[in-house]
Amino acid sequence: MTGRNYVLITGASSGLGREFAIKCAQRGMNVLLFALPGGNTQSLAHELRLAFGVDAQAIELDMTDSAELISTVNTIAERYPIQFLINNAGVGGTSSILQTSWERIDNIIQLNVRSTTLITRILIPHLMKHAQSYIMNISSMAAFSPIAYKTVYPASKAFISSFSLSLREELAGTGVSVSVVYPGPIMTNSYTARRIIAQGLKGKMGLLPTSSIAAIALAGTLGRQPTIVPGFMNKLNHLLMALLPGTWRLKIISRAVKKEISFSVTA
Ligand SMILES: NC(=O)c1ccc[n+]([C@@H]2O[C@H](COP(=O)([O-])OP(=O)(O)OC[C@H]3O[C@@H](n4cnc5c(N)ncnc54)[C@H](OP(=O)(O)O)[C@@H]3O)[C@@H](O)[C@H]2O)c1
Repeated sequence: MTGRNYVLITGASSGLGREFAIKCAQRGMNVLLFALPGGNTQSLAHELRLAFGVDAQAIELDMTDSAELISTVNTIAERYPIQFLINNAGVGGTSSILQTSWERIDNIIQLNVRSTTLITRILIPHLMKHAQSYIMNISSMAAFSPIAYKTVYPASKAFISSFSLSLREELAGTGVSVSVVYPGPIMTNSYTARRIIAQGLKGKMGLLPTSSIAAIALAGTLGRQPTIVPGFMNKLNHLLMALLPGTWRLKIISRAVKKEISFSVTA
């Protein structure tokens, strides 16, 4: 990545996205930080400019508003040379389907699936202007199996996985490298922390600090790796789960996930 160019990070105000923002700025990359309005994105951008001498811009919008998203991304792409796109913003949750409002389901699909696909499509011609450029899409270990009580979330992450691998193949030879990351559990906020603790030992398997996951994902993406599963335990877990028949895997994971329901976000 050269000094003039930018990395666009979605969901950059907290959790994994915030770590990507800090790590990219540490590497001297200029950053465009997408997050909802009213958070701390402006102050994060200010801190990054001061600490690392890079340009950092906060772009506050609701990415589930497709019209606003399309217009904003088109404008930003004309103004800033974007060489690296990190599609990190995503939401999930654990609750029975009847306790999950249709608004929440729509929000998961709009953010995880629709906004990621639209941003990527709009930015591909801009990424292609560079000899080498990168797309990192954040999926999840949840993409590897259907999961009861999560239903829409693993489906959305399986979409991200399939979309990324298809795109990688299609863009081979263009200089645009597409990587997909499958993180295990991350204690990014108090809700996910309580959810992970509720699962006991199983939930903590593969648990890595957010900054380590961000470092592994960045190194892998800039190294043009197609798929990245951060951490030895997550790799082992994935391997062992793949040996089980799909129906067993679904039952085992769903039984474990059911314990999280009391921490569900259903609104
Ligand atoms: N946490 C885990 O255990 C885990 C495990 C595997 C994969 N992942 C994936 O990793 C990614 C990051 O997860 P995380 O736990 O770090 O998330 P997080 O801490 O909840 O942060 C989510 C980010 O997305 C932004 N966001 C949410 N809705 C938005 C919207 N409508 N428009 C614009 N921005 C929006 C938030 O902005 P505000 O702060 O302004 O609300 C925030 O910056 C997600 O794709 C998630 O699915 C997470």
